Amino acid sequence: MNAPRHCLTLLDLSGEELHALLQRAIELKQQHRNGQPHLLLPQKTLGMIFEKASTRTRVSFEAGMVQLGGHALFLSPRDTQLGRGEPVADTARVLSRMVDGVMIRAREHSMVEEFAAHSAVPVINGLTDLYHPCQLLADLQTWLEHRGSIAGRSVAWVGDGNNVCHSWINASARLGFELRVATPPGYEPEQTVIDAAGAAVTLLHEPREAVDGADLVVTDVWTSMGQEEENAKRLRDFAGFQVDEALMATAAPDALFMHCLPAHRGEEVSAGVLEGPHSVVWDEAENRMHAQKALLEFLMARGGEVKSET
Ligand code: CP
Ligand code: NVA
Repeated sequence: MNAPRHCLTLLDLSGEELHALLQRAIELKQQHRNGQPHLLLPQKTLGMIFEKASTRTRVSFEAGMVQLGGHALFLSPRDTQLGRGEPVADTARVLSRMVDGVMIRAREHSMVEEFAAHSAVPVINGLTDLYHPCQLLADLQTWLEHRGSIAGRSVAWVGDGNNVCHSWINASARLGFELRVATPPGYEPEQTVIDAAGAAVTLLHEPREAVDGADLVVTDVWTSMGQEEENAKRLRDFAGFQVDEALMATAAPDALFMHCLPAHRGEEVSAGVLEGPHSVVWDEAENRMHAQKALLEFLMARGGEVKSET
């Protein structure tokens, strides 16, 4: 049996595959809007392991699988033997014999790597401490719908150099846009991630330097899941890093604003920016479903080959 293709980071897709997948996501969104059935994964099952909380990821995968004619299983470590110490490798081999794909939201990236190494079916990373590739599929689809190609454009990341930031770094390597990352000292993205992507990222400590004339401004929470005990220190360290109206005014006049959500108004973003004219956050959230449907089709129906109908 050939090893299945997985999507553990955005680098698991070539630039060409990423382009085709985003086009396919737009087609599937249109079909969904038109009420056209697209039962591309009939009777297929997606196992979904969540070690952390989720609203968007769970609902988008679950609803997406139903729209594709399949089914999704929500598996919480609280209710499975995984949470009682059954090895990841054993769980991977058992689930592989029953389901057709597995989506995992894990505390540690090494868990999804270990699972994938023992899985006979495709594994999708639904967020780890290091990466959030599915979020980037949705964000890139959103950019494409609003502005066309992202190649050569400038993207400013303001805030924590976290999992979502790491996936933006991978996207910049794959799609050729400029990425300027402004973090407080000590919160930079991991150099190993930048090196692995071979991305040309500019690291800064001044939000205004990153945002100056940018086509897209992106942020995320200052305290990610699992870092709750650092919250008070982070609130102090990130002072001055809020994306507010004054900061957005220094971006390009038609700049977009993105946030993966959930958002903390008054912390990393002002309510005015989140709800304002630059913001496309609700499109991003919706596109999680369409982009992941394209990914599910790519991995589970086409064995890792994207074909666009247009
Ligand atoms: N953006 C995102 O992944 O949201 P959830 O944590 O709600 O899944
Ligand atoms: N960086 C955030 C993203 C949530 C979708 C976290 O890991 O909690």
